[in-house]
Amino acid sequence: MSTSTEKLFSPFSFNGLTIPNRVVMAPMTRSFSPGEVPGADVAAYYRRRAEGGTGLIITEGTTVGHRVATMADNIPAFHGQAAMEGWKNVVSEVHEAGGKIMPQLWHVGTMRNQKEAPNPDEPSAGPSGLFVPGKSVADPMTPEDIQACIDAFRRSAAAAREAGFDGIELHGAHGYLIDQFFWEGTNQRDDEYGGKDAVARTKFAVDIINAIRSEVGDDYPLILRYSQWKQQDFDHKIAPTSEELAAFLKPLSDAGVDVFHCSTRRFWEPEFEGSDLNLAGWTKKLTGKPTITVGSVGLSGEFIAAFAGEGSEPTSIDKLLDRLNRDEFDMVAVGRALLVDAEWANKIRDGRADELKTFTREAMTELA
Ligand SMILES: Cc1cc2nc3c(=O)[nH]c(=O)nc-3n(C[C@H](O)[C@H](O)[C@H](O)COP(=O)(O)O)c2cc1C
Repeated sequence: MSTSTEKLFSPFSFNGLTIPNRVVMAPMTRSFSPGEVPGADVAAYYRRRAEGGTGLIITEGTTVGHRVATMADNIPAFHGQAAMEGWKNVVSEVHEAGGKIMPQLWHVGTMRNQKEAPNPDEPSAGPSGLFVPGKSVADPMTPEDIQACIDAFRRSAAAAREAGFDGIELHGAHGYLIDQFFWEGTNQRDDEYGGKDAVARTKFAVDIINAIRSEVGDDYPLILRYSQWKQQDFDHKIAPTSEELAAFLKPLSDAGVDVFHCSTRRFWEPEFEGSDLNLAGWTKKLTGKPTITVGSVGLSGEFIAAFAGEGSEPTSIDKLLDRLNRDEFDMVAVGRALLVDAEWANKIRDGRADELKTFTREAMTELA
């Protein structure tokens, strides 16, 4: 007999928001928004996930209004009238279907390929202008640039509230701008935004959170997504021990993060030796805040391999349920399984495992 899904399909509340179940759609860049505007097809795509029983949708990364925040003009923006009209339509489609939705606010930092991105004459932005340790692609950001980015996040959070989104997620993971401040390898500043100490390197994110809180108030749900790993270095850990992780998370938690979304590629991997807890488990234990886990839920292979063309078969989620049922974390984000199958949540709830779909590379080429 398989493990109970009762808890997965029970409601969960944080900062005044109640989601109907613990299944969260992981943010996934789809690049189907020509001119940076999400159209009716994007709205219908998210609506299908709400109809399929997803408790909370986190949108694909959507870029804040800073001149070099994006890397492509088919990634939706989160500023400007046309894009925001598109997003309002997304919100109303999802809400009509009974779903909840938050945008993932994003600045790509030096992951932007300057020549191929919008505004190719403008150098990319990074705390020390580094793409990876030792590889410079721009000058370090000036204090004015840092402030402009903080303001851009603040304005996008205000736009989210105005458009009717149920909260926001900040993309602080995977080696993009916020994470470039967290990571010593890309943050070699010697001012208040840098330093040898990981706690000092949280200041950029803390300033963003404070700016957002002063704009939208304390009662608007705010999720921070973070990861130890970087696209530039899969094995890196910002916090190599649980003590360092506690110190790193504290200023972020104190600034007003409601939920930590702990990005790992395989949810079952213990974060530190001597304990089974994964990153979401440790983060919940250390901060007392709710957490979201993620990484290969319901699929046989992990997502970086998917970009290289590897497919993934549906697999049992019993081990995940065991961890959820013992409160290691509170919510579960699902990426590729939901990308390929809008009905994933309802199929799991109804025990229709035989109907779950295989994830293939082709799934990424359409907005089904
Ligand atoms: C096509 C695709 C696009 C993604 N884009 C984003 C993104 O915009 N922001 C983000 O934080 N993670 C992004 N991710 C990572 C996912 O949110 C998720 O963490 C990862 O796919 C692992 O979950 P999974 O194994 O269930 O797919 C993306 C993943 C995929 C497959």
